[in-house]
Amino acid sequence: MVSFVACPKAWTDLRCASTCKGNESWTLLPLPGQPFPGNRWGPDSRFRRPAFPRAGGGAAPAHVSLSPAPKRARRGRANERSGRESPPRPPVTSRRAPGPAPELARYPSVAAPSPRVSSRSPPPPVMAFVTRQFVRSVSSSSTASAAAKKIVVKHVTVIGGGLMGAGIAQVAAATGHTVVLVDQSEDILVKSKRNIEESLRKVAKKKFAENPKAGDEFMSKTLGSISTSTDAAAVVHSTDLVVEAIVENLKVKNELFKRLDKFAAEHTIFASNTSSLQITSIANATTRQDRFAGLHFFNPVPMMKLVEVIKTPMTSQKTFESLTDFSKALGKHPVACKDTPGFIVNRLLVPYLIESIRLYERGDASKEDIDTAMKLGAGYPMGPFELLDYVGLDTTKFILDGWHEMDAKNPLFQPSSSLNKLVTEKKLGKKTGEGFYKYK
Ligand SMILES: NC(=O)c1ccc[n+]([C@@H]2O[C@H](COP(=O)([O-])OP(=O)(O)OC[C@H]3O[C@@H](n4cnc5c(N)ncnc54)[C@H](O)[C@@H]3O)[C@@H](O)[C@H]2O)c1
Repeated sequence: MVSFVACPKAWTDLRCASTCKGNESWTLLPLPGQPFPGNRWGPDSRFRRPAFPRAGGGAAPAHVSLSPAPKRARRGRANERSGRESPPRPPVTSRRAPGPAPELARYPSVAAPSPRVSSRSPPPPVMAFVTRQFVRSVSSSSTASAAAKKIVVKHVTVIGGGLMGAGIAQVAAATGHTVVLVDQSEDILVKSKRNIEESLRKVAKKKFAENPKAGDEFMSKTLGSISTSTDAAAVVHSTDLVVEAIVENLKVKNELFKRLDKFAAEHTIFASNTSSLQITSIANATTRQDRFAGLHFFNPVPMMKLVEVIKTPMTSQKTFESLTDFSKALGKHPVACKDTPGFIVNRLLVPYLIESIRLYERGDASKEDIDTAMKLGAGYPMGPFELLDYVGLDTTKFILDGWHEMDAKNPLFQPSSSLNKLVTEKKLGKKTGEGFYKYK
């Protein structure tokens, strides 16, 4: 039998993996506080929503109708084909029009009731039942057909223009994708674009060493494929893929995806670049768990070949394949992993980094010698302290804290006083100019 939710125990107790017998023993239950997952046959909360709007109706954005393919999506793609850039839309709040609640507007053929039925009197019970069945059937088939299609990703929206988001945007644009980079302020976006330009210059210098003119063309074409916006909801209407690379905080990620779910096209795949959070918990904030997966890039994105493609129990095979193809189109090497804490790399790497800090904290060796030892003795390209500074100490602390919360007794997950002190002092590594080492 196919399970839709990972064993909740496996997530709260890392040792559960040894006691569970695999997927068969997973519980078919929603996670605490989460709606039932998008099981086509199950009691999905969306399917149980009343088929008729409340008196007075709800307000819905005019453009959330999704079947057939939204006009704006088609126009966006037409713009792409003609070489024009889809301009960022004005804030969506100003585009609201009276209509049914957003969830119902996804199925316009049934969700827009005749005025006679909608506002005057509630439908007779039998009619309500029939309509509910119709909504259930249309919504199920609509979701199922979106899940069944493999998407060739052309247009990407990257949310978060920091270390990772800027890198993802750069690589996507450099490989022929149209990219919209989103962050919270224009100032951050200006900085992100500057970082992308600097990084691209290095790539162009290396790649087109013999032909600087071609390098200049590559740079201007790549930069020309990246537009920016401070309003994610206003730009996701015509995107094939949303890659989220914002702050590592479940609540903030959930709020973002819940909002975007209402504005993105039906076919749009959502992916999170989270290093430590459970993908299922992020996906459950949306109604598109089948089109939701993890896409875990590595820092620095333009150089690191690996992408972990994380398939939750609800991710459709087509979504997984679409993301695998997209990763290959970026010139990366995708590997598959289940939605397990730390996925592959971090589950092995973070305990190693923290053990290095403990070695240093105990005074057993200097950080310089530990770095040298691991480079020369283990053949690692960077020592653990160089890597910690490169990744960002706040990111490592966040991962460690999350794991400690899940398994407080595990000695590998105990907090580190030096790491905590540096983060409190805002010495986060290379990105702030100081971490374990100084960079100015
Ligand atoms: N740093 C790494 O080495 C690394 C590696 C792999 C994955 N990740 C993951 O990638 C994600 C981003 O990490 P990072 O190192 O790039 O962080 P970062 O701090 O460098 O950048 C995060 C960016 O997101 C923006 N942001 C925050 N909330 C936002 C919102 N609601 N809407 C739009 N933008 C928002 C911030 O302004 C910031 O520019 C995290 O989930 C992290 O776990 C990090």
